[in-house]
Amino acid sequence: MGEVKNGLLDIYERRIDYLRISVTDRCNLRCFYCMPNEGVPFMAYSRILRYEEILRLTDIFLEMGIKKIRITGGEPLIRKNILFLVKELGKRKSLRELTLTTNGIRLSEYAYDLVQAGVERVNVSLDSLNKKNYEQMTGVNLFNNVMQGINISQELGLKIKLNIVAMRGRNDGEFLDFLKFGIENDIDIRFIELMPQYYNDSIAENLFIPEGEVLKIIEKMYTLIPGATGSEKTTAKLYKIKNSRVTVGFISAVSHPFCSECNKIRLMPDGTLRTCLFGDSGVNLKNLLAEKKTNKEIKVEIVKAVKAKPEKHNLNEEWPKLVMHRVGG
Ligand code: GTP
Ligand code: 5AD
Ligand code: SF4
Repeated sequence: MGEVKNGLLDIYERRIDYLRISVTDRCNLRCFYCMPNEGVPFMAYSRILRYEEILRLTDIFLEMGIKKIRITGGEPLIRKNILFLVKELGKRKSLRELTLTTNGIRLSEYAYDLVQAGVERVNVSLDSLNKKNYEQMTGVNLFNNVMQGINISQELGLKIKLNIVAMRGRNDGEFLDFLKFGIENDIDIRFIELMPQYYNDSIAENLFIPEGEVLKIIEKMYTLIPGATGSEKTTAKLYKIKNSRVTVGFISAVSHPFCSECNKIRLMPDGTLRTCLFGDSGVNLKNLLAEKKTNKEIKVEIVKAVKAKPEKHNLNEEWPKLVMHRVGG
């Protein structure tokens, strides 16, 4: 079973070809719906996968049919020497897409090297276009850094997609501003439904805005053409904005779960393999490396874990176990 010639398939015939690697659980922001201000326990450095380990595992995953890798966190760009990893991954010929999800704070420093390493697009998380509001939501006054990161990326030809978590009373007055910003700057926009997780249990329900409500607000100003497709398979439901070159997408895990389409697995900073955002597979690949398992033996464990990938998530039951800053979305 170790050799997987035709890629990774789970028992529901979903083809798994997208690996998200969370390289750190640390972050330079404190988005209020993600990490509480009083701080959270971070993983000890000794537990975190070293780059050589990530590369060995990645090569195994590539042999098993992974075609797309997204580096996430926490905030991936704060991990020391992250460019080493990106450059190495960029050399993997069988990889169709190498990308990154970042909060953008350090993007301006890295954009050039990311492009050199073969990264063509990055997703930037930005929940407000208003400096004061941004500071209130993230705990830092670094809005200008994100804007600078976006501008420099675009000058360098690094494509940007903007991720906005829609939240009642926090940014629901800005949805149209985001669209305007996207259209003016040629940036695709995606609204994300807030998912309940360990650190936002008491506030998630009141903050939550369903996709339909965001759509209603947007459609007062813009005509959306459904069914637009991006260059790659995406989690988002996409619409083209009429008379523009950009799309607006909705990632609505709560109101419109997309589990039946899911093509992802996740590697956590400590080497835990997650076959679902909401569920640990029980396999820790760093431990297998420490036990000197062969690639073939590791593949057997990965295949087994993927076969047990849950059919769908059960937000109500599983959200308390999800610690978003470790999993990286
Ligand atoms: P693209 O490759 O550009 O489509 O990006 P992506 O949506 O796969 O990744 P990104 O890191 O930009 O994630 C955007 C949002 O989607 C985040 O809020 C993630 O938590 C959420 N998300 C990504 N994948 C999943 C998933 O499999 N299940 C759920 N429920 N949410 C997800
Ligand atoms: N629900 C939905 N999206 C979330 N993110 C972080 N926490 C949540 C949550 N509870 C988003 C970030 C970023 C992406 C990686 O995940 O804002 O855009
Ligand atoms: Fe950091 Fe992302 Fe969490 Fe914000 S949502 S604190 S950027 S990990």
